This record gives sequence, C-alpha cells and structure tokens, in this order.
Amino acid sequence: MPQDPFDWTDDAARRRADAGLVRSLRPRPADSALLDLASNDYLGLTRRAEVTEAAASAARRWGAGATGSRLVTGSTELHAELEHELARFCGFESALVFSSGYAANLAALTALSAPGTLIVSDAGNHASIVDGCRLSRAETAVVAHADPEAVAKTLDAHRGRRALLVSDSVFSVDGDAAPLSAFAGVCRAHGAALVVDDAHGFGVLGEGGRGALRAAGLAGATGVVATLTLSKSLGSQGGAVLGPARVIEHLVNAARTFIFDTGLAPAAVGAALASLRLLRREPALADRARSVASILHGRLTEAGLTAARPDAAVVSVQAPSPESAVRWAADCRAAGLVVGCFRPPSVPDGISRIRLTARADLTERQIGTAVATILETAPEV
Ligand SMILES: Cc1ncc(COP(=O)(O)O)c(C=O)c1O
Repeated sequence: MPQDPFDWTDDAARRRADAGLVRSLRPRPADSALLDLASNDYLGLTRRAEVTEAAASAARRWGAGATGSRLVTGSTELHAELEHELARFCGFESALVFSSGYAANLAALTALSAPGTLIVSDAGNHASIVDGCRLSRAETAVVAHADPEAVAKTLDAHRGRRALLVSDSVFSVDGDAAPLSAFAGVCRAHGAALVVDDAHGFGVLGEGGRGALRAAGLAGATGVVATLTLSKSLGSQGGAVLGPARVIEHLVNAARTFIFDTGLAPAAVGAALASLRLLRREPALADRARSVASILHGRLTEAGLTAARPDAAVVSVQAPSPESAVRWAADCRAAGLVVGCFRPPSVPDGISRIRLTARADLTERQIGTAVATILETAPEV
C-alpha cells in the first residue's frame, strides 16, 4: 500500500492535542440564547433590520456574487458609492474596497513596498499585517510594542531607504491604542510612510466613529494610509484601504489581492453602506461602545480582576494560567456568556486572558449579567 501523503497530519494533531492547542469549530444557531461578548459587532449593527434589508436588496438588485474581479465585472455602482462615502466619512481623499480586511492589509503592504524597502512593524500587529510583511519581500524590522523611540532608532539605522511603518490602531489582544501621533511624527521626520490598520478603531474612536486616524488628526495627512475591515463595527464583511488618490490608483494597478480576487459580494457592500449611513445618523453609537467597555472594565477591576484600561471597545482580563483561561471561558459559556480566550503562543507576552468585546447595544441588565457571570466563574488567583 502506498503511504497516504497526509499521514503527517496525524502527528501534527497529536502534538496539538499534547500541547492543549486544538482548535475546533462551533457552528452557532441563528437564534442563540447565549449572551455574546466575543464577537466584533461593536455597534450591534449586524442584525439591524435596516442593514439586513440593505444586504437582501443589494443581492436582489446586483446578484448574489460580484461575478468577477473588480477590474473585470466585479465593480458595481454600489462599490463606487461605498468607496466614496467611506473616504468622505473617514476624511481621506480616496478609498478602495476589498473582499476582506485581510486582503486590504496584504494589498497595502505588498503594493506600497518593494525589495529594498524597509517595513517597520509593531510587535503586537495582527496576523494579516505579519503576512503582508512576509509577502512583500521587503525587509521587515519588528520593533517593540507601541514604542516610537524603537521605531525612530530603526529608521535612523536605515536612513536613505524607502521606509514604511505599519501598526494596528487598537491592538486586538489587549485593546490598547497605538501612539499614533508619535508614530506619525517619527515617520514625518524620517520621510517614512505610515500605514495604520484601524480594524478596531473605525466605528468606535474619533468623532462619531470616524476612526483612530481622525481622532489623532491624521486622516488625510500626507504619507498616511489606513486599512479597515467592514466586518467589525459595520457588521458586514469586506475591507478597505483609504489614502491619497494616487496611492489608491497605484493599488488598483499593483495590488494582487485586489486584481486577482473576486469583488466583494453586493450584499456585503449594501450592508456596509447601510451601516455607514446609520452610523452617520447615530454618532452616539461609537460613544456607547466605548462607555460599555469602560463600565465593564470598571466593575471587573473594582471586584479585583486585572484588566488594562480599554482605549476602544476591547476589554482584556488577565487569567493566572493558560489552563485557567480556557476553563474560565468554558465556565462562562456554560453559564450562558460567550467570551474570547487568548493564551500562548498567540499572545507574545505570555499572559493568558479572557477577552470581552463591548457592544453599543448591550443593555444595563446584560452588562450586569456579564459582569456577574465573569466574577462567579473567575479562577482563584
Ligand atoms: C486588526 C485586524 N486587522 C485585520 C483583520 C482582518 O479583517 P477581516 O476579518 O475583514 O479579514 C482583523 C480581524 O479579523 C483584525 O483584527
């Protein structure tokens, strides 16, 4: 019998099981009784009737799929409308929509660098940024987390080279914000571009949710590009890159994840557009998401838990060990509350956590239930 060429996956599975690192899917029913503090639906828009109706109506009008890549048949007038409104809302000259935030990050990093470019990347950056750096074939220098001095030192050592600094605006594990103003100052002083992934800031930070770059006075600034996902605050799916018109035009011509990928489905475009318009009408949603995060943080830390003060809508609560974090999350679920769980190796600082995402639509009662459940199930320290 010839050997099955995938026999090696059994060894990999055994190693994962021995390390307690098996991941598995848990399909959720459409109507779950569980209280969700794990999704990224920060503004509670994914099920708003106006948004789901817009998705359905876009599918009826434009079709279930985009039918092709953006440069062939996959650009509808709806895509153009979303790009125009996203750019205007966030304060950038131009925007380009992608099939995911992941693809948007790959596009920005690969198309805006070349072999010989230096990419300076924050150590806490999201996996899609890490992968973008790898794919870019540029030299990547990973620098200490949220450390403008480390960035300056690295750029100093490579003066004269084309350079780009890339950072999340809000880091997804701990919910802390990047020092964007200081980063921008360092970039300006060194003639480097600044690429900021605002996945967790857009919809939550800045005036009416216009994002972290707007909050830092950097939206539309020279040398600054933002990437976004439409899958968190806007409750839809897809991603975008925002920046100067000539940069966006360059991406249309050079970004492989734009050129060789089917356009975002019209339903997702329609939903994102409806959410964006809703957010423009209800700017208090952004404030509410931040204030729910702050209430959760306040009550949990007053009760003795350790959690960093949230800069946006992510609240990360420390657990004493990886095993206790896993058990804590499981006990919360058994009690009707879904929370996220992070542990090494996916957290570089080695600290295990349960992670809560605040939602603008959580009621006082739901917040009370969530806090009570987390405290009742908390591990002994
Ligand atoms: C910081 C960050 N960037 C990018 C992404 C990728 O976005 P998408 O899910 O739209 O691919 C995510 C999460 O999913 C994220 O948390």
